[in-house]
Amino acid sequence: MIVAMLPTIAWEDDAVVMVDQRKLPANEVYVRCRSAHDVAKAIRTMVIRGAPAIGVAAAFGIALGMTRSKATGTRQFAAEFQKTCDLMAATRPTAVNLFWAIERMKRAFADAAHAGESVEQLKVRLTVEARRMHDEDVASCRTIGKLGGELVADGARILTHCNAGALATAGYGTALGVIRGAVEAGKRVTVLADETRPFLQGARLTAWELVKDGIDTTVITDNMAGALMLGGHVDIVVVGADRIAANGDTANKIGTYSVAVLAREHGLPFYVAAPWSTVDLATPDGSHIPIEERSAREVTHVGSNQLAAQGALIRNPAFDVTPHRYITAIVTDRGVVRSPFEHNLRELSDSPEPQPV
Ligand code: MRU
Repeated sequence: MIVAMLPTIAWEDDAVVMVDQRKLPANEVYVRCRSAHDVAKAIRTMVIRGAPAIGVAAAFGIALGMTRSKATGTRQFAAEFQKTCDLMAATRPTAVNLFWAIERMKRAFADAAHAGESVEQLKVRLTVEARRMHDEDVASCRTIGKLGGELVADGARILTHCNAGALATAGYGTALGVIRGAVEAGKRVTVLADETRPFLQGARLTAWELVKDGIDTTVITDNMAGALMLGGHVDIVVVGADRIAANGDTANKIGTYSVAVLAREHGLPFYVAAPWSTVDLATPDGSHIPIEERSAREVTHVGSNQLAAQGALIRNPAFDVTPHRYITAIVTDRGVVRSPFEHNLRELSDSPEPQPV
């Protein structure tokens, strides 16, 4: 049975609660964020991660911060709101869902303020909007799962990178949503999960989720993907995305680009699965996507054990960009997009909002 609804993030009256993804799979521990600062810290330190989940967390964080505001007048409330949005925007730079979520909260605020709502009414508006974004994200993932599942053949051996699952979204997942969609359509699939150095989202999170769902999953180290493709052990690749530029170039977890090049070399389809909130038509191509550089310690250490030689210089870009020419199709909740991406993405963006399937 597909579990899929792992408790990634939840709104409670006085707190935002999230499972601490740094501790999985060994410990299922929940973090209670009681302020916007707590939520911002949770995003920065990867208690919660994955592009859509970061967006939902930011929206919840803004709603939580503003609910707790002591401001009595709308002017002071608006100033605090702006500061809280800035706090969230400074957490992680690559996933555009973060900025998309902040913009949506700003729009909700502006509409309510324009209608002359009181501080108390504004608080309710922001909470309602954040909760709506959470629920919409689950619905988007389910649509992606249904559309993407149709691209998966019965018996497919699917390689995925990082974790684009229920934990990376409000529920169900994008790349793992495609896998779940295929399974729910009655197809038998097996999954190869890249361990995904340095943060090990594949080995820890993807494998944890899929094993819980009873999906046959094999963890491999990232440098095994090529040999397994050459040996004929992979049929398709499905990954998530942190930002899709107007021309289809896609930022995702570091290592995705290498997998895409390998897939091309071996004639395998390479699919990107993402909600429309990941599409950034304001960014013309991948060279304009900001790539987060994270701490050296993530590379030098695993837990408290130092692996890298003391004194060595370290690089830790957390994401890379896969040029659109390597992408077979982008599966979104608005439809499956193929080349020419620039034209087809633009056309979909002009189409009416999709209804959940
Ligand atoms: O650094 P992370 O763990 O936030 O990176 C996550 C990824 O790269 C995911 O593949 C991406 O956000 C898509 S999640 C549905």
